[in-house]
Amino acid sequence: MLEKAPTPPDAPPLAAPSAADLLAWYDRHARRLPWRAGPAERRQGVRPEPYRVWLSEVMLQQTTVAAVKGYFEAFTARWPTVADLAAADEGDVMKAWAGLGYYARARNLKRCAEAVSEQHGGRFPGEEAGLAALPGIGAYTSAAIAAIAFDQPAAVVDGNVERVFTRLYAIDTPLPAAKPIVRERVAALVPTDRPGEFAEATMDLGATICTPKRPACSLCPWSAGCRARAEGTQELYPVKAAKTARPVRRGAAFVAVRADGAVLVRRREPRGLLGGMTEVPGSDWRAEPHGDATSHAPLTADWRRLPAPVAHTFTHFHLELDVWRATVPARTAAPAGMWWSAAADLDGEALPSLFRKVVAGAIEAPVSTGRPGRR
Ligand code: ADE
Repeated sequence: MLEKAPTPPDAPPLAAPSAADLLAWYDRHARRLPWRAGPAERRQGVRPEPYRVWLSEVMLQQTTVAAVKGYFEAFTARWPTVADLAAADEGDVMKAWAGLGYYARARNLKRCAEAVSEQHGGRFPGEEAGLAALPGIGAYTSAAIAAIAFDQPAAVVDGNVERVFTRLYAIDTPLPAAKPIVRERVAALVPTDRPGEFAEATMDLGATICTPKRPACSLCPWSAGCRARAEGTQELYPVKAAKTARPVRRGAAFVAVRADGAVLVRRREPRGLLGGMTEVPGSDWRAEPHGDATSHAPLTADWRRLPAPVAHTFTHFHLELDVWRATVPARTAAPAGMWWSAAADLDGEALPSLFRKVVAGAIEAPVSTGRPGRR
């Protein structure tokens, strides 16, 4: 709970926040986004395509609008309909997704496209329950698609909306315990008219006005009804439960560079973390130190360790990878299950950001002369 001054007994009552005030603001300030039908278009009867709404929502989970735009344009140019995506090669989808993270989402994307094409005649179901039964579509995404693409009065609550509503009603229960309270408050405000735009407007408000730091309250259509603003405590919301520290895992990665610049890569196991993506060979990742790291090297070479490990944070752990580099002759054969990716082809491989960092670091950085296995 927050430490805050009690509200004085003579404080004026707050104006009740209304969907109409928010929608009037949205009519003037809606962000133009490639998957969106803006207020003017909607007034002319244009609806956003469910396929584009679904694709954008899956891409936007855990990622920013700025990071997603380019991927969205590339996906929809290459696979303009859900049927095109259903028929796509999974490896091509993984390559196009590389860099967005959370790769299970990319695999589910393809499965969901197949389910819509094969079981629903190429049309997304129009309500939350039908959407939530599809692969990779959870409670948030089904509500978002139902509201935005089908104008269902669903309560759409993402991180931005949690921030807006915990401030609006001064909900000081820490997240995630506050989620059901927030959801109830959102549901109570969703209008029957324009529920999709209400969802988009709450997201835009959170992204552009009700920002985590220094919110622009003077520009907010709900400022007169905002309890946190009245108390001057807006930046203290949302209250979050203390995080438990992420455990650290360590491992080694080996960047073999052929004389012509090609890099040795392999495919990860299809299931699990970064499943099916491309990687440079290396050890497993664990909490205990590895003994002789170079025993995990894919081939015999003069391996040199880079001075600094590459660090990467996943949802459940923090990873530190020692990176080893070796230059090998042009005729060196790839060990079983691996291949040489020409320098010009590396960008197009399904390499997650972690391994892009590893390869870029190994190609650019000076190497230590530390002997194999030290450290
Ligand atoms: N974040 C998640 N979904 C979004 C959407 N549809 N528009 C803008 N930001 C979003």
